[in-house]
Amino acid sequence: MKSAEPFSETDVLVIGSGLAGCAASYAAAQMGLQVILLSINKDSNLSSSYQAQGGIIYRNPQDTYKDFLDDFQRTGADLVNEKMVKTVYENGPRLIDEILINDLKVPFDRTETGEIALTREGSHIRERIAFVKDYTGRAILERFYDRLKQVSNIEILPNTTCVDLITLAHHSLDSLHIYEPSTCAGAYVYFQDSDETHPILAKMTILASGGLGRLYLHTSNPHHARGDGYAMAYRAGARLMNMEYIQFHPTTLFSTDDERFLISEAVRGEGGILRNKYGEDFMPLYHPLGSLAPRDIVARSIMQEISRTGTPFVYLDITHKSTTWLKQRFPQIYEKCLAVKVDMATEGIPVVPAAHYECGGVAVDGLGNTTIRRLKAVGEVACTGLHGANRLASSSLLECLVFGTLTGRDCLERIRQDEIIMPAVALWKEETEPLDPDLFQQDRLTIKHTMWNYVGIVRTARKLERAGGILWRLQRDVEKFYAHSQLNDETIGLRNAATTSMLILHAARLNKTSRGCHYRID
Ligand code: SIN
Repeated sequence: MKSAEPFSETDVLVIGSGLAGCAASYAAAQMGLQVILLSINKDSNLSSSYQAQGGIIYRNPQDTYKDFLDDFQRTGADLVNEKMVKTVYENGPRLIDEILINDLKVPFDRTETGEIALTREGSHIRERIAFVKDYTGRAILERFYDRLKQVSNIEILPNTTCVDLITLAHHSLDSLHIYEPSTCAGAYVYFQDSDETHPILAKMTILASGGLGRLYLHTSNPHHARGDGYAMAYRAGARLMNMEYIQFHPTTLFSTDDERFLISEAVRGEGGILRNKYGEDFMPLYHPLGSLAPRDIVARSIMQEISRTGTPFVYLDITHKSTTWLKQRFPQIYEKCLAVKVDMATEGIPVVPAAHYECGGVAVDGLGNTTIRRLKAVGEVACTGLHGANRLASSSLLECLVFGTLTGRDCLERIRQDEIIMPAVALWKEETEPLDPDLFQQDRLTIKHTMWNYVGIVRTARKLERAGGILWRLQRDVEKFYAHSQLNDETIGLRNAATTSMLILHAARLNKTSRGCHYRID
């Protein structure tokens, strides 16, 4: 087989440019390592981190570790990995101060006396979330990405889609490498602009490719959240866990098309109340924390009210606040609502749940180490156990910052300790058959409808079994029909979506116990 000259070789290859990828790249570069950062878009502005509205958990002077842990455990249905909560408790405020406030100068909202303003969201017992109006993710990511562009040992490659992780066992041209422990050595990367695929070899690879909400018909997630990282890690042989715990955000703006715009939980944190079509505040019937109950409970309660009252949505009522206040605190949400002729100062916002966050993922320790040597994972694609069976609001940006930084910093030590084999690998085999857009569109829709209807908010053995039949056939067809199709970002995504849907389904079928976001009524 013809061996490929690697397009590039680097110390650290980071796959994904959301906050976890940015934080890991920055930290690794500060340790003196050469970093290549892959961004699937032109800029980092289409990541889930960029779109995060609510905020980032910071600190309330009244907080004790016990309060903090209790909020995580109650929300995560007692499946939270306490060691990880400790890590974010001990490192979070320090890294927010050091990186976000002092270094990047993120303009967090302040009180009249100049302190960082704090808000509250669902299942937090008190205010401890720092925010920048209703576009916290954007404010952080814009500054972070600009900073990375100035760091000389970071090379950002925009419009690049990772096709597969390179492992010694699967891709090395040295057949004796099958006897090495499972080891990652970089990735095959599709360059969207030149339409070419090349290997990039790396001493350490960090998967930071985000989540999978787009496998569902309705989601708050951006276009590329289609499960790429989970599928690649699975094919490489990594351990994945807790995949059945898909969090549905209770409040996205209802619309008659499939798109869903997030209405931040901070709206309820500021006193917004969920009401049914009769104007009743129904949440206290379901949970003592009312509209600020954990997300899984709110999402299911909304679905119950929807079916009980026969309307396709419920209302989120924040009319006790003035127009001036709302425009100042939630400018983005205010504008979006107005664009669909909803004046949130005078009427309830029609809202419905939508797929939001995968609490499980590639199993990692607190330094991002997976079960494959030289492969780390951070952010939504990874599972530290911080979220247990359901994620606490505004913990995802914190997780990205803390574990991204710790993971990036650890790369130097790992590279020093490991015996690094950089294998010769085969050229990517280019296929030429044109893609049939009708087939492609139907396959995507099949996944979305099946996941939404059968592997969604409320699950039963019968629904999961039905999904199994559909998805199993689909995955086989996807592998067969597209095996000779020209590679592009969309076909890569479809193949990964088919695999990742099966991973979720498999976990959901095996787990017969309702817990957190995995809710079975049988
Ligand atoms: C929100 O603003 O409601 C989303 C924040 C999060 O998912 O943590």
